Amino acid sequence: MNRIAVLTSGGDAPGMNAAIRAVARTCVFNKKECMGVTRGYEGLIEGEFIPLDRAAVGGILHRGGTILKTARSPRFKTEEGMQQGILKMREAGIEGLVVIGGDGSFRGAKDLHDRGMPTIGVPTTIDNDVAGTDETIGFDTAVNTALEAVMRLRDTASSHDRLFIVEVMGRNAGFLPLEVAVATGAEYVVVPELPLSIGNLCEKLRVSHENKKSHTLIILAEGVMTANEMKDQLQDTGGYDARVTVLGHIQRGGSPTSFDTILASRMGAYAAESLFIGKSGVMVGNVSHRLMLSDLERSWLEQKSLSPELLNLMEKLN
Ligand code: ADP
Ligand code: F6P
Repeated sequence: MNRIAVLTSGGDAPGMNAAIRAVARTCVFNKKECMGVTRGYEGLIEGEFIPLDRAAVGGILHRGGTILKTARSPRFKTEEGMQQGILKMREAGIEGLVVIGGDGSFRGAKDLHDRGMPTIGVPTTIDNDVAGTDETIGFDTAVNTALEAVMRLRDTASSHDRLFIVEVMGRNAGFLPLEVAVATGAEYVVVPELPLSIGNLCEKLRVSHENKKSHTLIILAEGVMTANEMKDQLQDTGGYDARVTVLGHIQRGGSPTSFDTILASRMGAYAAESLFIGKSGVMVGNVSHRLMLSDLERSWLEQKSLSPELLNLMEKLN
């Protein structure tokens, strides 16, 4: 294998650039060529390839977003779209592909593998909802970004004796909201994985207010309902004046933390080297601090669980 390509797909995540750089520089180190595909699978279908030599990936290690741009490509889900993508790669002499994205992008990666194009996935998403890895690239940064925002809300909540309902991203998973809640010392977390009783929540708010807690924070996973819907459903806020904040896409931007930068560098290099030795149809995972490969299907077939320890801490500490 002399020439491989790398693309970013799906929702962007901090650390994607560090992963691109690692793939490209690992190619240089191993005397192989690396091409970047712009706009994810959409660019693959169009044959949008740019050479990624050592200099092309200089100065991007700490940049948020993705220099290759990302896209959601309905066309790639069709047989015609996939065949077109493979044809474009073959025409450009590309013999393998690293797909940087979430489990949706990995379905596309599996399709390429099944059609004879060696492909390896590198998991990136702020949601951390990909089985086969303890952490996805971008998750740690998003936790820290949300932490900073919520701590600011805490200041104003405390000054006014207010309740803040903070809506946190994560799609249908509660990983991001749960870590944000533990890190901020929020009083309550509401996640899709656990049943919600609005009655119990109202009662807890009443007790908090009676105990003269100056502020109360509810971290709400977007997968449960919107923060405004929750405010409407909370008939009784126990005496607190309630406000709503939606953190939104701010959670997806910014420079990656050192954890994400290092994770992305390790995973990108590992993915490229795994391709060189003939691996395909697999994703890189960080499991108990060690990199390993697992079948791409695992990322969407297996349900990853929230940490019981963190859920328990929410009960005990807040
Ligand atoms: P993420 O990778 O962040 O989960 P998406 O679910 O939006 O993002 O998927 C990104 C892209 O991956 C889609 O736009 C599509 O091109 C491709 N993709 C998703 N699902 C499939 C599938 N079942 N088969 C082929 N390609 C897919
Ligand atoms: O998957 C990452 C994510 O940011 C989710 O947390 C969120 O639900 C979704 O993407 C938002 O997608 P979009 O950028 O298309 O609005």
